[in-house]
Amino acid sequence: MTSTVPVPHGLPMQRDAGPFGPPSDITRLRDARPVSPLVFPDGHEGWLVTGFDAVRQVMADTRFSSRQDIGILHVPYEVPGMPVPTEPSPPVPGMFIAMDPPDHTRVRRMLTGAFTVKRMRMLEEHIADVAERQLDELARLTPPVDLVREFALPVPSLVICELLGVPYGDRESFQTNSARFLVKDQPLEEKMAAYGALTTYLSDLVTRKRAEPGEDILSDLARHGELTVEELTGCAFLLLLAGHETTANMLALGAFALLEHPEQLAELRADPELLPDAVEELLRYLSVVDILYRYATEDIELGGETIGRGSTVVVSLLAANHDPRRFDDPDTLDVRRKARGHLSFGHGVHQCLGQQLARLEMRAGFAGLLRRFPTLELAVPAAEVPLRTDMNIYGVHALPVTWTNPVVD
Ligand code: HEM
Repeated sequence: MTSTVPVPHGLPMQRDAGPFGPPSDITRLRDARPVSPLVFPDGHEGWLVTGFDAVRQVMADTRFSSRQDIGILHVPYEVPGMPVPTEPSPPVPGMFIAMDPPDHTRVRRMLTGAFTVKRMRMLEEHIADVAERQLDELARLTPPVDLVREFALPVPSLVICELLGVPYGDRESFQTNSARFLVKDQPLEEKMAAYGALTTYLSDLVTRKRAEPGEDILSDLARHGELTVEELTGCAFLLLLAGHETTANMLALGAFALLEHPEQLAELRADPELLPDAVEELLRYLSVVDILYRYATEDIELGGETIGRGSTVVVSLLAANHDPRRFDDPDTLDVRRKARGHLSFGHGVHQCLGQQLARLEMRAGFAGLLRRFPTLELAVPAAEVPLRTDMNIYGVHALPVTWTNPVVD
């Protein structure tokens, strides 16, 4: 395929189409050349995949290795000083998001039982309780308040801490370190320091669980005995980070998006039955996990292009989820849309392990928030909401909101 759109130098990331849509350069590129060469800031050439079909194909094909990065850093070209990989990186023990089969299969298999739809359904009521208790606390505060701090972060954090058996009281230090770890454009030493602090904390925790297992997922893994302490630590790191940063940003950015689309919000308030579809639509529309990296282990044909062996391949889930070839009127938020089939949880062997959990948290979180705070509104102009364009997971750093007369259940 030929294109009149120039080959991008660096990832076009500027949110010039508003806080929710893909950057306009990405949209133009996707429509003209969904599999495009890309020149990274260090001059190294790779590929940028933005079309829905091509992105799905990359995710489904394990010849596109996930061992592109160190652990879940996923940022080989954003971290100053980090060398360009010339072959897949050695797997970090337990960090199965950055492994390929069969290593990936061995570790993930031990966790799938804990995250099945059935197991998650058993937690549904409990998750709703956690959300309601957090909303009780929110209702006691005098607005304006930051919805991220008081609601969007605590709910998934409380849930994942309890599931994993991580003391919630320790959250301040691990949340600070995970935020330091997720900041882009940060010197490698900074990231590694945050990573080191988190892994030291988690390695102590899993060692204690090995000695005295409790009733939680990490204890079950430790009791099983098949994973080393290093592997258990890697799993704990991945689950803890993936388990709260992602959902917290979906809750906060989702609330922002609904407040910015009052007619959609009104429809949802009028008919709460729409909520499961609305959650899928928010997942699609916002795609908070946007950029993923892969590494071509052989020459692969993709969308009429040949991806050479050894190439770095960047996929944009946000661009794919806004592809008009797959979704009608894709840049419109429509809570009635049947958006299932979006790629926000990835696709293929690495498809999100926590997706059922995330769905339950979002359904409970949005349902409670809308019911209890019928007059919720932004406390600052939308343009002043601080966007997380500097992080690997998109969202808002804070969401100042206000209300009158919360509903007390
Ligand atoms: C993987 C998104 C919530 C655990 C992934 C991937 C995406 C994603 C796109 C694929 C990564 C890749 O292919 O490289 C999301 C979003 C969430 C969410 C948008 C919230 C709305 C959660 C939660 C957990 C979780 C609550 C809790 C356990 C994981 C794990 C993986 C993963 C362990 C790695 C799976 C593997 O490599 O086999 N997630 N996630 N995620 N997610 Fe989530």
